[in-house]
Amino acid sequence: MSMSNLAPLAFEQVSVHLGGREIVSPSSLELKRGEFVCIIGPSGCGKTTLLRAAAGFVQPSGGRVLRNGQVVSAPSREVAFVFQDYGRALLPWRTVEGNISLALEAAQVPASDRPARIVKVLETVGLAVHAQKFPAQLSGGMQQRVQIARCLAQQPELMLMDEPFGALDAMTRESLQDELSRLVREQGLTVMFVTHDLEEAIYLGDRVIALRTNPTASQPSIAAMLDVKIPRPREQLATKEHPEFLRLRRELYQFLGH
Ligand SMILES: Nc1ncnc2c1ncn2[C@@H]1O[C@H](COP(=O)(O)OP(=O)(O)OP(=O)(O)O)[C@@H](O)[C@H]1O
Ligand SMILES: [Mg+2]
Repeated sequence: MSMSNLAPLAFEQVSVHLGGREIVSPSSLELKRGEFVCIIGPSGCGKTTLLRAAAGFVQPSGGRVLRNGQVVSAPSREVAFVFQDYGRALLPWRTVEGNISLALEAAQVPASDRPARIVKVLETVGLAVHAQKFPAQLSGGMQQRVQIARCLAQQPELMLMDEPFGALDAMTRESLQDELSRLVREQGLTVMFVTHDLEEAIYLGDRVIALRTNPTASQPSIAAMLDVKIPRPREQLATKEHPEFLRLRRELYQFLGH
């Protein structure tokens, strides 16, 4: 079988136990190459745990996580993880450029090749003019862009994002959503994106997965999977007025028990 037939990420009946409790109940999910999958669900339902299992930070207690057909047993450089807390993800004593360089150093990119790669990735996120600044001199949105740029510098195949825009104001969040959509398509990335915000999930996703409120029941954590058949490129106003957007919003809203 050729590699291209294998899913960039697959969960096969994955369960996760932590502290003697079943945090994720046996769940199966397969991402398609280039697909943007959003995970929503109430606080504590296991979203971060599922993402950590995908990254190889935590091992499933049952089932398997596969990447391109291989069992995930440890973190890999082909997988980038974007945290909500950009403040803690960046090194405060390194400049923007220095923070991006971390990814290249980890990948053992020769020092002479780094400057050009850094400039390129900073241009992609519109931060080239801020290369010499320190994280504390940037706004929250800009710091989060630096973290995303560092992930892109890693040239990952898969991006795992844990509420990356949760701490940002609404305007910044919308512009970063649009920027991320563009980058993901340009770079052909596969994304698993966790959010609390169901509008964000529908706006960004090709598919939205809802996790159950109480995953300790002997039911799969995954309670619903909805395809988002809204054309791209999406646009903040028009997309959010699209009949399909409104329909999915209502369905998920009721599902999440508001
Ligand atoms: N290392 C751990 N040991 C024991 N319990 C844990 C551990 N990590 C997470 N949990 C528990 O697992 C449950 C799910 O946690 P998780 O962080 O995956 O939820 P979440 O859906 O990401 O929540 P939030 O939306 O608040 O970020 C919580 O009850 C949490 O307390
Ligand atoms: Mg979480």
